Amino acid sequence: MKTKLAVVSLLASMSASTLVSADTDAMMEAAGKELFSKCSACHSVDSSKNAFGPSLIGVVGRKAASLPRFAYSDALRKSEITWDEGNLRKWIAGNDQFVPGTRMRHVEITDKAEQDYLIAYLKTLK
Ligand code: HEC
Repeated sequence: MKTKLAVVSLLASMSASTLVSADTDAMMEAAGKELFSKCSACHSVDSSKNAFGPSLIGVVGRKAASLPRFAYSDALRKSEITWDEGNLRKWIAGNDQFVPGTRMRHVEITDKAEQDYLIAYLKTLK
């Protein structure tokens, strides 16, 4: 009887923490969406079309400069970067230091939490 009670309360506490983390994800994505206002002038997300910048749909995990119909800089083409979290972090912290010669105007988001939010949002772009 006692064991059963312990299992029940363990299950209850597990689902509570799962709920909390789902909440946090949603909050991070929402915060990232706000920050994306610094990017949306050039990057389209409502379709897979390119604007002044390449579409960022599916960018997380993509090889840099790999969209067929976008005129990337030679610098980005030759960079051999894959857009994992670490590289995205360096890019948004100072894209033109990370890839000198890029055509993208300088952005500088150095706050670690803001980088987390933005990357959480980029992950939702599929
Ligand atoms: C003034 C326009 C502009 C703004 C603002 C801008 N970008 Fe860009 N972005 C570009 C251009 C142009 C490129 C292509 C760069 C190149 O070819 O060197 C690019 C490339 C990228 C790439 C590489 C995509 C690929 O297919 O390899 C990522 C990732 C990216 N931008 C993210 C962002 C994020 C995140 C922000 C906001 C913090 C942002 N950009 C703001 C114009 C912009």
